[in-house]
Amino acid sequence: MSNPANLQLTQSGELRHFLTAEGLDRLMLERILDTADSFVVIGHQEVKKVPLLRGRTVVNLFFENSTRTRSTFELAAQRLSADVLTLDIKTSATSKGESLLDTLRNLRAMHSDMFVIRHGDSGAAHFIAQQVTPDVAIINAGDGRHAHPTQAMLDMLTIRRHKGKFEPLSVAIVGDIMHSRVARDQIHALKTLGCKDIRLVGPNTLMPNYIDSMGVSIHTDMNQGIDGVDVVIMLRLQTERMAAAFLPSAGEYFRLYGLTRQRLKQAKPDAIVMHPGPINRGIEIESAVADGPQSMILNQVGYGIAVRMAIMSMAMSGQIQQRQASASNPLSAEKRS
Ligand code: NCD
Repeated sequence: MSNPANLQLTQSGELRHFLTAEGLDRLMLERILDTADSFVVIGHQEVKKVPLLRGRTVVNLFFENSTRTRSTFELAAQRLSADVLTLDIKTSATSKGESLLDTLRNLRAMHSDMFVIRHGDSGAAHFIAQQVTPDVAIINAGDGRHAHPTQAMLDMLTIRRHKGKFEPLSVAIVGDIMHSRVARDQIHALKTLGCKDIRLVGPNTLMPNYIDSMGVSIHTDMNQGIDGVDVVIMLRLQTERMAAAFLPSAGEYFRLYGLTRQRLKQAKPDAIVMHPGPINRGIEIESAVADGPQSMILNQVGYGIAVRMAIMSMAMSGQIQQRQASASNPLSAEKRS
């Protein structure tokens, strides 16, 4: 497959879409984190708005359910001063049979500048950026089991702000790796940012085959997997994506892979605990840990706004540069009507 970074970058290497962490270099990921750091500061101010997307139109299109991702994208766009439209797919013409492509073409005709898309099909965001509306900045808010790069980057921001450099860290990702679009992008981002010890922990039935080539270690024993780690990332069981029974029962899963206070003692004493949410208490994590002093779960939500502001402002400025370059090139196929 061609390098996915090519589709995401302008000719001069600026971000213009954000589809996956895969293929982006360390400098780009660090630029996103540095920019997000400056937005964390803005988030603490009395007035939280900046004019970077003033006059720009952002459309949120969520074809799958979402609470955190959708609301933090909406807030991020508003804090960047964009005009924001969140289309409720259940009441839109998509439910009358209009195809996704027609919906997008209509929204583009309204001179939208950015689409934030969550879709159940892996590859949906790539397809749209490549084939449908390349002159609209496409931000992937989760596509099937494939990628969820803004979640991965907010996780990286959480780790960097609480643990510093990635090189010396040991990070365990625990649970349903196979169905998780989050895990995949986390692995790409952690590797690119220099993390040497990435451990995937879970039952064999929930390990995907793509990981063999990713330079990570695999652990079916939870105590061994989180032994001495700095960061424990818990994942939700994606039962909605499971076509067959992958587990004996939720109780058995919790007994083997649930993060309890007792089990967390295996990790470093100052280890942090993360989870993208929604959390299932008593299935993948004990309440005492989710609400405990090592938990970063609510901090992650706040960092999500800052990271999304960073990515949206960077992609918008790259997209504008690309449009200007296309407008001055008489042979360009990407001219905007
Ligand atoms: C994740 C998602 O949707 O992929 N959640 C999120 O974006 N906050 C993980 C999940 O649903 O388990």
